[in-house]
Amino acid sequence: MKIQTKSLRRFVAPLVALAVVATATLVTAREPFTKEELKAAEEKLTLSAKRGYDMWYGARADMSSNGLACANCHPDAAATNPQTFPKYMPQTDRVMAYREMVNWCIQNPQAGKEMDANSSDMVALESYSYYLHRGVAIQTGLQTRQTAGPTPTNARGINVKGTGIGFDK
Ligand code: HEC
Repeated sequence: MKIQTKSLRRFVAPLVALAVVATATLVTAREPFTKEELKAAEEKLTLSAKRGYDMWYGARADMSSNGLACANCHPDAAATNPQTFPKYMPQTDRVMAYREMVNWCIQNPQAGKEMDANSSDMVALESYSYYLHRGVAIQTGLQTRQTAGPTPTNARGINVKGTGIGFDK
């Protein structure tokens, strides 16, 4: 019995030591992003959302030939439901991506020119709408099931709480 306990100890002790070293290595590993890197990333995203806001509320000539802007029908990105895409849309009788739906609204209600789906302009429109819907649960479903709108906390419609970035000019 005694011998068995001794040999067990001989095996277990190095294993415990190894586990301690492994844990220490994990703890000291570099975080994927530093605070500064995260702040810079957040600033870039918020800038894109701000640009999206300006496009959303201003009827840019190429996006609209009748003076209508997104905000006339979707104030604060209401009823755009980004968290429900991709989904089936009866307008085209197929499953559509969010940015395709944005183009549909540019070309139909706004009678404007189709936007390059990969342009930074499109990304800005997406940034604004998705930004306001952060924290809204992802949902599948038909477009008839409208999901709750976001609750922005400032006049320009962007929730800047905790971002450290102001939007007021
Ligand atoms: C004149 C009113 C009007 C304007 C302006 C307008 N939309 Fe729409 N939007 C609609 C209508 C109507 C629908 C279709 C609703 C439906 O099919 O249930 C829609 C649907 C959408 C949807 C899909 C929502 C969903 O859950 O299915 C998105 C996204 C969207 N619009 C984005 C935009 C963007 C971005 C702009 C500006 C570039 C814009 N819209 C401009 C009226 C408008």
